[in-house]
Amino acid sequence: MKLLVTGGAGYIGSVVTAQLLEAGHEVTVLDDLSTGHADAVPEGARLVRGTLREQAAPVLEGGGFQAVLHFAAKSLVGESMEKPGLYWDRNLGESLALLEAMRRAGVGQIVFSSTAATYGEPQSTPILETDPTRPTNPYGASKLAIDTALSEYARMHGFGAVSLRYFNVAGAYGRFGERHTVETHLIPNVLAVAAGTRPSVKMFGDDYPTADGTCIRDYIHVVDLGVAHLLALQACTPGEHKIFNLGNGNGFSVREVIEVCREVTGHPIPAEVAPRRPGDPAVLVASSQKIQAELGWKPEHDLHRMVADAWAFLRSQR
Ligand code: UFG
Repeated sequence: MKLLVTGGAGYIGSVVTAQLLEAGHEVTVLDDLSTGHADAVPEGARLVRGTLREQAAPVLEGGGFQAVLHFAAKSLVGESMEKPGLYWDRNLGESLALLEAMRRAGVGQIVFSSTAATYGEPQSTPILETDPTRPTNPYGASKLAIDTALSEYARMHGFGAVSLRYFNVAGAYGRFGERHTVETHLIPNVLAVAAGTRPSVKMFGDDYPTADGTCIRDYIHVVDLGVAHLLALQACTPGEHKIFNLGNGNGFSVREVIEVCREVTGHPIPAEVAPRRPGDPAVLVASSQKIQAELGWKPEHDLHRMVADAWAFLRSQR
């Protein structure tokens, strides 16, 4: 297929682009490089630098594209609490520009990077796609609004859309991994201690109602996540908007993640308890039954492998 990948210079976008190319697809990446890196775009993909508002229409018009995979987004929960307008503009605003450009160009298939943050504080665990969506921050709210727009475009314009609601993505795929200028995620922060670029890791809160008092998250390997995108691409059905959770269905606490990082790196990794981070739910674990049943997806990589691959990637960067 001839595909447009927005945000293909970022962490997840670059991994999925590499997998799409390996599967024989033709890929154009559209990325403004505000957080992505030009050298992260896999060889064999064409890179167009620009925003969706400026470049989606000219790239799509007459380009012969069959589908879009839409990763481009601002994705830091904390930043979204400080700058909600930025998140509404860059996430919803840019996405609407993309959808309109698709509609005008007659490209009606889209796979969208949604998030567990659309659910907010869960009512029950594991989280099902039918659970209430009550985001607690502008990041999750802006992504939920895009999901709503996709439902309308499917209903009114016959789009075939699939939203994948990611839980905590980790790991790397060869030379494609996490390279954020400001790193807030747990696993890269813990591994930075083992690499000697941070003195210790802070555990944000140890008084949550969990077995060891630290927050529990559902970690998914970026390669498994990518495989789900290839399956989702085949599942775009005109007139339908399908939503799937993407996680492993297992929860690991912050302390458990740090322990796995110690095992993998052989480094003692000093950890200290710090105050809770605002907006962190105690437990976020996905039910991935729906995507397993409907698309035949199955996670292949465990937490140990995610940490090992992220560690190999980090060392290759030095
Ligand atoms: N944490 C620490 N120390 C750190 C970093 C994180 O203790 O240095 C803790 C957090 O408080 C949280 C857990 O580790 O309890 C995981 O935090 P991350 O920042 O790695 O991930 P989040 O669960 O906050 O966020 C992720 C994605 C978001 C998405 C969210 C959906 O990064 O984009 O999952 O639940 F919205």
